[in-house]
Amino acid sequence: MSDNQLANKSQAWSALFSEPMSELVKRYTASVFFDKRLWKADIEGSLAHAEMLAAQGILSAEDHAAIQRGMAQIREEIEAGRFEWKLDLEDVHLNIEARLTELVGLAGKRLHTGRSRNDQVATDVRLWLRSEIDEIAVLLNALQLALVDVAEKNAETILPGFTHLQVAQPVAFGHHLLAYVEMFARDAERMADVRRRVNRLPLGAAALAGTSYPLDRERVARTLGMEAVCQNSLDAVSDRDFAIEFSAAAALVMVHVSRLSEELILWMSQSFGFIDLADRFCTGSSIMPQKKNPDVPELARGKSGRVVGHLMGLITLMKGQPLAYNKDNQEDKEPLFDTVDTLKDTLRIFAEMAAGITVKPEAMERAAMRGYATATDLADYLVKKGLPFRDAHEVVAHAVKTAITQARDLSALSLEELQAFDARIEADVFEVLSLRGSLNARNILGGTAPDQVRAQVVRHRARLA
Ligand code: ARG
Repeated sequence: MSDNQLANKSQAWSALFSEPMSELVKRYTASVFFDKRLWKADIEGSLAHAEMLAAQGILSAEDHAAIQRGMAQIREEIEAGRFEWKLDLEDVHLNIEARLTELVGLAGKRLHTGRSRNDQVATDVRLWLRSEIDEIAVLLNALQLALVDVAEKNAETILPGFTHLQVAQPVAFGHHLLAYVEMFARDAERMADVRRRVNRLPLGAAALAGTSYPLDRERVARTLGMEAVCQNSLDAVSDRDFAIEFSAAAALVMVHVSRLSEELILWMSQSFGFIDLADRFCTGSSIMPQKKNPDVPELARGKSGRVVGHLMGLITLMKGQPLAYNKDNQEDKEPLFDTVDTLKDTLRIFAEMAAGITVKPEAMERAAMRGYATATDLADYLVKKGLPFRDAHEVVAHAVKTAITQARDLSALSLEELQAFDARIEADVFEVLSLRGSLNARNILGGTAPDQVRAQVVRHRARLA
């Protein structure tokens, strides 16, 4: 086959075909317009393969040098936007290989020795995803640090803590934000764990059964910085569970972002008025001049649906595929690419947005005053005076009922009025009934007391450094 013929996709596989592919089928089966973004990984994988072929004496030193030279030029062409991607050449792999052959002749045709696009694409996706995971790790770190900064400044800021979206107990706003830091920390752990299984080498599996050439797979793995070699050729070419578990980890990050978004949106609403987001993260309304809408968190909440959807797409893609490689797997790319793009943009924007949150402590404290948030503290106080907790709970329920009918806070009742509910109540009760007293009292590991919040801030900073 001449070089020109290889550049013509209708003859790229073999002379077996007696009619050209229909234009519609060509477009339907081609992936080049989305998988071209794998080009760097494709070249890196090919260079490692060629280096090993040469070391094993399967490829001559001259051919190896020619391949290196050709690939360097292709890299330049792609970076400069001069590379001509051809639909006729179906995908990124055939496009690059055909150009290589155009540039260096026979050596280009020898590159594919002992390799198939099946193990090639699996390798490319893994290499690409590995570097994306590394970027995501950096972004997750930055977001956590941004939240830790706001948390540190708000270790003392009182926020009504909610259960069932009803005022429950006062918490420090910093404590609340650090809950999200915990979530993102676990997300980072999950990503690191997924990375280990992404970072394994399929090359050498060839089409599905391995190859008869004496390839040194361990060597290629080392060159590519991969931790292991896939140990079964059929599995190596057909496994996409690394992509699925990455998507699951990404979906969880987005679910965490979505929960935070929901809170930011609520907190910024007039009914709460707890925070303000910087203008650059909001938009106005074309009809209502007074509006400032939290578009960024709303969009992030919406985009979480899209990432969860990609997870469903990928996992369904795998179901029902017999071993080994099937073209179905080409459908892994768009959801995976979009997941990565959406996640990275979202993490970037959230780190910036967190740094621009204006906190309104008076509004938070006023809201905490409205829901009898220290009722549990009164019950605990009575327990310390000898009452069993269940009885104390009952006594306080009566006190709250009375206070509600008079529209007064528990702390606004006089000592005599409180003593009418239980004679054990003394003047020291007012410290207990204060929001600040309630906060300070929860000085236990993982609790909301400002000292605990500050200790967590120190721990997070050390961990994230
Ligand atoms: N573009 C293909 C993919 O993404 C490459 C592998 C094609 N292999 C094949 N035997 N048709 O999966």
